[in-house]
Amino acid sequence: MAIEFAQRIRRIPSYPVASGYSLGPDVAMLASNECAFAPLPEVVEAAQQTLTAVNRYPDPSYAKLRQALSARYGVPAARIALGNGCCDILLAAGEALLEPGAEVVYAWPSFSEYPHLDAASGARAIRVPLDEEDRHDLDAMAAEITVATRLVIVCNPNNPTSTAIGLDRIEDFLERVPSHVCAILDEAYCEFSLTLGDTYASLELLRRYPNLVILRTFSKVYSLAGLRVGYALCGSEDFPAAVNQIRQPFHLNVAAQAAAVEALRHQDAVERRVTQTLAARLSLEEGVRDLGIWVADSDANFIWLRLPEEDQESEVVKGLLERGVLVRAGGSLGRAGALRVTVGSEAENARFLEALAALL
Ligand SMILES: Cc1ncc(COP(=O)(O)O)c(C=O)c1O
Repeated sequence: MAIEFAQRIRRIPSYPVASGYSLGPDVAMLASNECAFAPLPEVVEAAQQTLTAVNRYPDPSYAKLRQALSARYGVPAARIALGNGCCDILLAAGEALLEPGAEVVYAWPSFSEYPHLDAASGARAIRVPLDEEDRHDLDAMAAEITVATRLVIVCNPNNPTSTAIGLDRIEDFLERVPSHVCAILDEAYCEFSLTLGDTYASLELLRRYPNLVILRTFSKVYSLAGLRVGYALCGSEDFPAAVNQIRQPFHLNVAAQAAAVEALRHQDAVERRVTQTLAARLSLEEGVRDLGIWVADSDANFIWLRLPEEDQESEVVKGLLERGVLVRAGGSLGRAGALRVTVGSEAENARFLEALAALL
């Protein structure tokens, strides 16, 4: 007889991974919103230096990284939660907040990990459709908050649609979230957003909303996706305490911690990379528009476009792959007939545009 697993194993959706990791170095990997730039040499060096002492467990208080983040963002260290990527923090939040009978509200399509939270906990998900411009409909989301709501999630900029909502509207929304409901503002891509301004602007909200949790990551702008470091800047100490209670004690490895601390020391280099990414994003958007295709105004390190015909999607994705370009099909992310394309290197972006033009 086969092993009998918990019911939730049948409910939890599989993460829609792109199937290109075995394709080799010649494929342009534009499917996972990673950073096109390799990590800085100093960051690699800092991670390498930890390897001679890996007979020891990591510092379970993560003091150096917590302090470095606290110094950079002016948030007390006890109000910072760290995770093995911010997916880890999201999953722990789901465990800490949700259970059968509880409700979680988020937009759809949005980050494909959110449905994991309700499926794993047995909570009810209220998925609020994006508006016609593929942005969060915050009024409709606020209207879905009930006595059963424990968690609301706003992904800003939104993955997969790349769109962002201004902080004035986020603040109006937070006014309508009861103070006992946890509000997660997932800002994994905020560094690439012109709409949001600088990366400090949203932190002002933490002073006014103790139920607010701002999620950020080292996976995107800091080029450390493979090492898995995410963090949450929180309006109170309650959230870090609850997620730490849920997780194993040593969830962030020593190399990841050292790399993240070092990465924070090189903001000038990071900003130069952001500037280059924004310039490349602009030419990618223009290139797509020149083909007569609708593309959202992106606030992230990826673009979101709608193909002329919905049923072209799988053919176009296949054709792109045959031409050495891996992108993400909208159908796997909640909206058929769309493509999500990461901003890559100049050569990769050119290859994508050329292949798309040939296919349409
Ligand atoms: C919106 C959003 N939030 C969170 C994450 C998770 O990032 P991490 O690599 O830190 O787990 C991603 C990753 O793609 C994302 O798109």
